Amino acid sequence: MGFPIMRPRRLRSSQALRKAVQETQLSPRDFIYPMFVCPGENVRREISAMPGNYQLSIDQLVAEAKEAESLGIAGIILFGLPESKDPEGSDAYSDDGIVQRAIRAVKQEVSDLLVIADTCLCEYTSHGHCGHIVDGDVDNDATLELLAKSAVAQARAGADIIAPSDMMDGRVEAIRDALDTNGFDTLPILSYAAKYASVFYGPFREAAESAPQFGDRRSYQMDPPNQREAMREIALDIEEGADIIMVKPAMPYLDVVFRAKQEFDLPVAAYQVSGEYSMIVAAARNGWLDLDRAMTESLTCIKRAGADLILTYFAKTMARAL
Ligand code: PBG
Repeated sequence: MGFPIMRPRRLRSSQALRKAVQETQLSPRDFIYPMFVCPGENVRREISAMPGNYQLSIDQLVAEAKEAESLGIAGIILFGLPESKDPEGSDAYSDDGIVQRAIRAVKQEVSDLLVIADTCLCEYTSHGHCGHIVDGDVDNDATLELLAKSAVAQARAGADIIAPSDMMDGRVEAIRDALDTNGFDTLPILSYAAKYASVFYGPFREAAESAPQFGDRRSYQMDPPNQREAMREIALDIEEGADIIMVKPAMPYLDVVFRAKQEFDLPVAAYQVSGEYSMIVAAARNGWLDLDRAMTESLTCIKRAGADLILTYFAKTMARAL
């Protein structure tokens, strides 16, 4: 059966019809809002490469977290700017570390907002790499122990989900073991399972002050041309105990999101990263794109591809618009 009996345009002829047959709908519950916490009080420093996003001291962060909760957003994910950095990234696993303190403060004030801890060392190491350096490269197995310690410190502070973003082999298992031995066997792991070495993280490195001081992250993050390898990474993380899997970035990697959703039965998260956000905002500022429509379309399409959860710097703006 074809034209003229079938006329797909019939169902597009009014907003009411289009809405009635819409296959994908966004809700504030889809979103996780990334936030940057820094030392001090009353600090609210706009990140120049990510307009509308701020480095926030704990007091300011708590206020914004409460706002996110009232907008119905699913959760926040925290990145820390420590007072000082060292080669081993010790602020990441100290009980007084910036993120641990922030988690405790936020958890006291919210009840319906997930507080997710990004588990990685790059924000805390003086060299800006995601682990322990041996001979100019990150040593995988030595890093696992540090990541596990960081996850336990975040768990002790009250994190609802542990989200390792480092891309070391075996880190989900190491973190799962450490959490279980320390009495956190019910705490879920959201693993950045397929995280690519992407140029689109550029603005984030200004936000988190985490640019590598030498080299790049290509020896641990995935190579952008590879899709099958992503399935292998995800399968390994699931075997090691991941509860939610993530693909990152989102929009240039929708094929990976789609395939992850088809092949695995765990919830899938996708991270609309800093560069994806900043490109849309910059184009809108130039008058080249409509901000609201670009935001809505990008997020809808990430969900359509299969994301159950979307990490996005638009979380609050989008939730308000819905
Ligand atoms: C830490 C981390 C990064 C991002 C999230 N966690 C940076 C990186 O890997 O260099 C990027 C997020 C973004 O660009 O929005 N490893």
